[in-house]
Amino acid sequence: MLRVKIREAALNDADDLAELYPKWGFELTRERIMRSLMSTRERRYVAELDGKVVAHVFVKRGTGYHKHLAHLYSLIVHPDYRNKGIATKLLKYVLAHLPEDIEIALAQVQHDNKASLSVFKKLGFERYGYLKNAWKNGTEYKHNVLLKKELKKRRKH
Ligand SMILES: CC(C)(COP(=O)(O)OP(=O)(O)OC[C@H]1O[C@@H](n2cnc3c(N)ncnc32)[C@H](O)[C@@H]1OP(=O)(O)O)[C@@H](O)C(=O)NCCC(=O)NCCS
Repeated sequence: MLRVKIREAALNDADDLAELYPKWGFELTRERIMRSLMSTRERRYVAELDGKVVAHVFVKRGTGYHKHLAHLYSLIVHPDYRNKGIATKLLKYVLAHLPEDIEIALAQVQHDNKASLSVFKKLGFERYGYLKNAWKNGTEYKHNVLLKKELKKRRKH
């Protein structure tokens, strides 16, 4: 097992994160990442190996009547470091550090993303739905599996 350090992302990770996103096929500008890193509703966590950011996940809590929900987005591990348990370790850390009043963690995964589905299921996420045509690129569509993990132990009632 690699000795990765999991920590909350800081403003000076913006460049590394802007480099990591395209490894998943998405571009996110440094400015957009900086805005997110300064937001109080959004938290980004990274896995660092020998001082280099090799993985990332983004957590956004709901507002108003959805304040007890946390959405997990953009779980990305650098291609050179996949299948070494990094995503699992990163998500375990994130789940353990969610605010006490978060009752349900939510995620969406493309139906054919076996590695990602395997990670979420291993951590106790359950399928609660399926969103057909969740993703669209020109005329191509992909479908998402909707996943939830109820954090029962934290509930006060
Ligand atoms: C999905 C992703 C984050 C997983 O990261 P990772 O660090 O490789 O994940 P882990 O090593 O913790 O676990 C991977 C698990 O998937 C399993 N797996 C990998 N490829 C698989 C496949 N084709 N079929 C079934 N299981 C597979 C591994 O066996 C492992 O399970 P195990 O720990 O029970 O053996 C990484 O592949 C990635 O960054 N993919 C591109 C971005 C992406 O798709 N993100 C998900 C968005 S929801």
